[in-house]
Amino acid sequence: MASSVFTGAENLKLPSGLGFVGSNPYLGCFPTKKNVLVPCSRRLGTKILTPPRCALSASRPASQPRFIQHKKEAFWFYRFLSIVYDHIINPGHWTEDMRDDALEPADLFDRKLKVVDVGGGTGFTTLGIVKHVDAKNVTILDQSPHQLAKAKKKKALKDCTIIEGDAEDLPFPTDYADRYISAGSIEYWPDPQRGIKEAYRVLKVGGKACLIGPVYPTFWLSRFFADVWMLFPKEEEYIEWFTKAGFKDVKLKRIGPKWYRGVRRHGLIMGCSVSGVKKFSGDSPLQLGPKVEDVKKPVNPFTFLLRFILGTMASIYYVLVPIYMWLKDLIVPKGMPI
Ligand SMILES: C[S@@+](CC[C@H](N)C(=O)[O-])C[C@H]1O[C@@H](n2cnc3c(N)ncnc32)[C@H](O)[C@@H]1O
Repeated sequence: MASSVFTGAENLKLPSGLGFVGSNPYLGCFPTKKNVLVPCSRRLGTKILTPPRCALSASRPASQPRFIQHKKEAFWFYRFLSIVYDHIINPGHWTEDMRDDALEPADLFDRKLKVVDVGGGTGFTTLGIVKHVDAKNVTILDQSPHQLAKAKKKKALKDCTIIEGDAEDLPFPTDYADRYISAGSIEYWPDPQRGIKEAYRVLKVGGKACLIGPVYPTFWLSRFFADVWMLFPKEEEYIEWFTKAGFKDVKLKRIGPKWYRGVRRHGLIMGCSVSGVKKFSGDSPLQLGPKVEDVKKPVNPFTFLLRFILGTMASIYYVLVPIYMWLKDLIVPKGMPI
């Protein structure tokens, strides 16, 4: 059973010869067709062929979050970022063609599907959803009233339901939605497994979750900034979280801006689209204890200042990386590695 295989990275195997650049942290998944990965248990049963090269998880305990992987900090970050979000963030990391490609596994084939867009922010991904589904059937949820205020102003989203809420504690009943979509939000969640367990709970049986998020870099400097800044999970972690939450048919599709030419060593803010199907009704079979994060706990001002400085440096770095890759794509002749 897949869930018994993916209880940790220790049962996962590094596929060789996939042509990735740099050391490869993406263990445990084999591409079945271009850019789509499935748990290796489907292809190999539970046979373990090599020792793991990377058994450590990119996750940290929720009590030691990265900068912004903390609800109060995410709130304040988006208090200001919401002002420029649609103009600065999306063109570099999350373009319309990437969004449409990433939403493809969500199977939005019927306008009547009931969809929740969790961490929907200013509604950029929702704009992709309402191309396929009637806006009145779509709910946008976000922790930031400032981001949601931007979504409310978008004409195409005027019929959507827009609510404030926490991805790790969704205000929807069990077995509620046909589709759960979340794009670019998991990196802020202190307890990502809890958020994915919630995705499972709120879906109807047969419903599909499609979660889009960043991937962990392999280049040392990118890894350093990713580590201090936000959660950049490894691909096998996404699969493990989905599988543990109870999802079946878990698949991971790689996404990235065209000008990266498939290079993934810097990690990507929008790096993959993970999907899974809820096969049984009711709550997730996964039992979790109470939340560890205490948002009300006062933060030491010196710790906060250090986290703020490092976080700001990291965010500047990750604004510059796509520009650097874009220039490289212009300069290096097509067909050559960059
Ligand atoms: C990078 S934005 C992505 C917004 C949108 N999905 C898009 O595709 O443009 C991340 C969003 O996640 C929201 N967020 C972060 N933590 C959250 C949480 N625990 N619950 C709900 N939303 C959260 C932020 O407020 C922000 O709007």
